Amino acid sequence: MAFQKHVLITFLTVLFLCVWVPVVQGQPGSPFLDPGAPTYDYDMALRLGMDVKLLFPSATPDRIIVNLTADPLSSIAVNWRTDTSKVLGLVEIAEATDGPQFLQQVRTIQATTDSLKVCPPDEPAVVAHYHAATIDQLVPGKKYVYRVGEGAHWSEWFQFDVPDPEKEGLSFLYFGDAQNEVKSMWSRVIREAYRTWPDIDFMLHAGDLINRHNRDIEWGEWFHAGAYIHATIPSIMTPGNHEYGKGVVLSPQWQPQFNLPGNGPKGLEETCYQINFPNLKVISLDAEQIDESPYFLEKQVQWLDSVLQHDPRPWTALTLHYPFYSTKPDRDNPKLRQHFKPIIDRYGVDIVLQGHDHAYGRGMVSNVASGSQVVAGAAGTMYVVSVSGPKMYEVSDDPWMDRKASNTQLFQIITIRGDELQYQAYTATGELYDAFQLKKRKGKPNMLINKIPDTPEK
Ligand SMILES: [Fe+2]
Repeated sequence: MAFQKHVLITFLTVLFLCVWVPVVQGQPGSPFLDPGAPTYDYDMALRLGMDVKLLFPSATPDRIIVNLTADPLSSIAVNWRTDTSKVLGLVEIAEATDGPQFLQQVRTIQATTDSLKVCPPDEPAVVAHYHAATIDQLVPGKKYVYRVGEGAHWSEWFQFDVPDPEKEGLSFLYFGDAQNEVKSMWSRVIREAYRTWPDIDFMLHAGDLINRHNRDIEWGEWFHAGAYIHATIPSIMTPGNHEYGKGVVLSPQWQPQFNLPGNGPKGLEETCYQINFPNLKVISLDAEQIDESPYFLEKQVQWLDSVLQHDPRPWTALTLHYPFYSTKPDRDNPKLRQHFKPIIDRYGVDIVLQGHDHAYGRGMVSNVASGSQVVAGAAGTMYVVSVSGPKMYEVSDDPWMDRKASNTQLFQIITIRGDELQYQAYTATGELYDAFQLKKRKGKPNMLINKIPDTPEK
């Protein structure tokens, strides 16, 4: 009798683990994940000339990306996509070793899994499971390996380094709009950037990563273009106007496919947030919500003021999609300056990284002429507009720009070490196009040392 009872308990336990556990492992919002393999409309995709490998998920993880967390010295966030046959997502993590010994010390972290169906007009529906996990207990300066997947379907092992700003400083790449022809023509920029500066700590995308907010094929192109770089170097991104659809609706893929901090104003999770390194605070503002919503404008004004008020960090970088000062002749964003410039000036934000204008321009905006707000004395803030994709607009003659370029795809590297910030902008072919240095001075605005190469303006 006791034996029969034991068999029954074992049977029920196995049944529970096999059936119930995977089903309830989804996000609280989606407890009933569809465990069946979906059928996708390959005919329609092929008829439309779409790359079905980029569009439809499979049981093998794709679109793998690491994001910075709010506390990037102790944790990293990872996201990936599968088809709906995978209701469970796992991360295996270990400290990297020279040989395969790390396999003996693997720690497993279970992801949350969320189901998403997108069905843009005139395109095949894509239903996918997005898996999100935070890898914690990391140590600054150490190298780790991780892979994602489950059962018979795993990614390769990716290696990443946890920054150690005290010893090595901090470096990051900044990209303006990718937006169009992302697979075809943006890929070379992110790859050249990574080839030139492989030791960076993170990448920052200043909005308009894609062109149409809900088109899954465009996100597929963005992930394809960055390929394993997305899975190796953590990213942060701020949304642009093209990540929003009619009615100010955020791209349905944004929150499922990224794992960005939710520490900004309520309702702007993963679009307005802060990241805190010991020597640098990075802030993302949601520019489209500033432009479209008086409520979220006010919320972001209050929030920005509150996070900068008692910040002990020496350096602050702010990113948002719309520029405070435009490079395009017929564009201007006075609302931004009216509401946010006083805060930037008051707390001495060091650098503002922007996109949207599809050209390059940067300057400190001291004593600028008409077309931009005249400021009383420089606050030492450097404003930059850049573009990484192939869509190009004309650049104006506005004197706020110390260096400008039209018809040029670029990437930028910013390095912070002690009381110095080094900035370099490179063209898509790897030519140094612009450079400067900022130096901290006690009680005074940053000192600017221009290091513009002696090459013609583009
Ligand atoms: Fe834009």
